[in-house]
Formats: sequence, structure tokens, C-alpha cells
Amino acid sequence: MPRKQNNNLVTQLVDNEARVKKQLTLPGLALGCWPLAGMTRAGVTRQAAIETVAAAIDHGITHLDTAYCYGENGESERAIAQAIKGRQNEVTIASKCGIHWQTGKKQTVDGRPDTIIREVKESLVRLELDRLDLLYLHTPDTNIPIQESAGALRRLLDEGIVGAVGLSNGNVEECRLFAEICPLSACQRHFNMLQQEIRPVLLPYCQSKRIAMVAYWPLMKGLLTGRMKRDQVFPRTDSRHKYLMFRGEEFQKNLDFVDTIRSLATQQNLSLVSLVLAWTMVQKGITTVLFGATSAKQVATNAQALACHLEDGSIFAINEAIQQRGPILGSRKV
Ligand SMILES: NC(=O)c1ccc[n+]([C@@H]2O[C@H](COP(=O)([O-])OP(=O)(O)OC[C@H]3O[C@@H](n4cnc5c(N)ncnc54)[C@H](OP(=O)(O)O)[C@@H]3O)[C@@H](O)[C@H]2O)c1
Repeated sequence: MPRKQNNNLVTQLVDNEARVKKQLTLPGLALGCWPLAGMTRAGVTRQAAIETVAAAIDHGITHLDTAYCYGENGESERAIAQAIKGRQNEVTIASKCGIHWQTGKKQTVDGRPDTIIREVKESLVRLELDRLDLLYLHTPDTNIPIQESAGALRRLLDEGIVGAVGLSNGNVEECRLFAEICPLSACQRHFNMLQQEIRPVLLPYCQSKRIAMVAYWPLMKGLLTGRMKRDQVFPRTDSRHKYLMFRGEEFQKNLDFVDTIRSLATQQNLSLVSLVLAWTMVQKGITTVLFGATSAKQVATNAQALACHLEDGSIFAINEAIQQRGPILGSRKV
């Protein structure tokens, strides 16, 4: 009987929702393991990757975020497996499915159910785990209804292969359709001082539905660390050369902004990175700030944000500087 089936489905969804919410406790700061695959900046060794992950755990940053496509052959997931040997119980592992690499370094979105199931099985092998704490659909596949992808993640949730499910790079409508099929515990989108596109619509939606918002690019791919030079040249092997925010006048204006924020940090005896991460962590609706790093040293610096308390006046001054910079040509690739 259709009516009874619907009721069962609702009950099941509610049960799952309770299970998911109980199990998914995300801390304020997490390590993003994309740079460990060496695709943003080439030359990140496996040893450096392992040390970066180990340093994060040592500093209490135990939520590790990776994806099936972080590295053409899952280099990020494989490095994590090596780094967490004997420490699996200390960490929360999130991975993503639905994007893979074709030969010639071409990324392909494929959210078909069979592909998702196959990728997740492979991710588990690479990570040497039998279950993921959190699994995201990496991005909606516009070639199929999102409900089909959601169905595969729902199956993995029901089978206990994943503890909770998220949607990365989705909009409100996609979240809504996804959640009709599979309880949605987390969303992942880019968010930082200069890229706040999620603020008006997606962020309030997630807050109203109690969906965690995991913010990536808090350091604007390194720009907000203050490390980039005015005459910075990104080698072709560094994927940052493709982004408008790292080019020409736009890049120079972003560096002017960094100078302003750096002086605010100096006034408060804070490192620029601590100030940037701490500001991001206190933004209303942001559950977790997901920073990438390529060395144990960077992790140690970034972990200082955990002990950083920003006064209202400081937040106000940062917000003024953001207003003055105005909208940027952010994440569009050239
Ligand atoms: N869902 C999605 O579609 C999606 C998309 C992008 C990212 N993400 C996730 O979000 C995470 C964060 O994004 P991201 O890593 O691209 O960008 P990010 O966190 O904004 O920037 C990371 C980069 O900043 C630099 N950095 C970090 N700490 C530093 C320090 N203390 N001093 C100097 N430089 C420092 C490093 O650059 P160098 O490499 O030059 O050392 C690092 O690669 C990713 O790792 C990934 O897990 C998800």
C-alpha cells in the first residue's frame, strides 16, 4: 500500500536523522587533505603528507577531509591511511565521491549510483578502513537527477558503510531534493573573508535545517596566509594559476587587503593565519573551518587559531576591511 510505504519511509528517515545527528559531531577546525595530493603545488612528498596529518592529530585537529579524486590515484587517501595507522580511533574521516580523473589530468563528474558505490569501496581500501564517518557527494552531476546520486548515498548510510552523508558544492534546491531521499548532515562550500557567496541563502538554509556547514578555502588557497609575493608567478604545475583571484589587478587588490588584515593581526599580537582562521570560525552558521596545509609546520601555526579569542572590535575592523575591498572575481577559473 503506497500510504503505508510512505509512512515507513518517513519513520526510517527520522530514525536515520537521529542516528546521523548523534554520530556526527564536527569540531571547529579540520584538516583539508587536498594539498597533500600534490596537485595544487607539485612536490609534496608522501613523507611530508604523513607528517602533516600526524601533526594535525597531535594538535587536536582530528577531522580529516579528503576525496576519491584527491590525487589521480587517491594519493591523499593513501597518505592518510599511512598517517593514521594505530590512531584510527582518534580521527573523524570524511571523504567525497562522484568526481574522478581521466588521463590527461581532466576531472570528470560522475554521480551515477554504480560509480558512487564503486568509488566508495575503493576509497575504503585506500584508507584501510571499513567505514567512513562522513561521505559527501562531491558535486551534483547535472547529467542525472540528484535524487539518483542521493539514493546511492542513502544505501551506504543504511548499510552502515558511512556514518553520515553530506552534499558538497550544492545549492539550496539541490540540498532540498537530496534530503528528500537521504538525510543530509553536512554541506561543504567555499567561504572566506573575501568569498562569502553562501551568506545570504545557503547558510541560513543550512542553519534552519541543522545541516553542518563545512567551509573550505578559508585561506583562499594560501593567499590569506600573506605568503604570496606581489610578483608571484605560479608554475604551470600549480593549479592556482587558473584562478582569476591570483591574476593581474585582482591579485594586487587582494594583496592590498592582506596587508590591511596583517596590520590588524600585528596590532593584536596574532599571526595573520590565526586571525584569518579565528575570524572564519566565529562566523554565524559556520560549523567547521577546513584548512589545507602541506607541512607539519603550517599545521602547528594554523592550530594556534584554536586558542585565539577575537574581541568584537577586532571583528568589526576586519568586517570594515572586507567591505572596503568589495566583491572579488573569486573562484572563477580562466
Ligand atoms: N568540496 C570541494 O569541492 C572542495 C574544494 C576545495 C577544497 N576542499 C577542501 O577544503 C580544504 C581547504 O582548501 P585548500 O586546501 O584548497 O585551500 P586553503 O585551506 O584556503 O589553503 C591551503 C593552502 O594554504 C597554504 N597554507 C596553509 N597554512 C599555511 C601557513 N600556516 N603558512 C603559509 N601557507 C599556508 C598552503 O599552501 P602551499 O600548498 O603553497 O603550501 C596550503 O596548500 C581542502 O584541502 C579540501 O579538503 C573542498
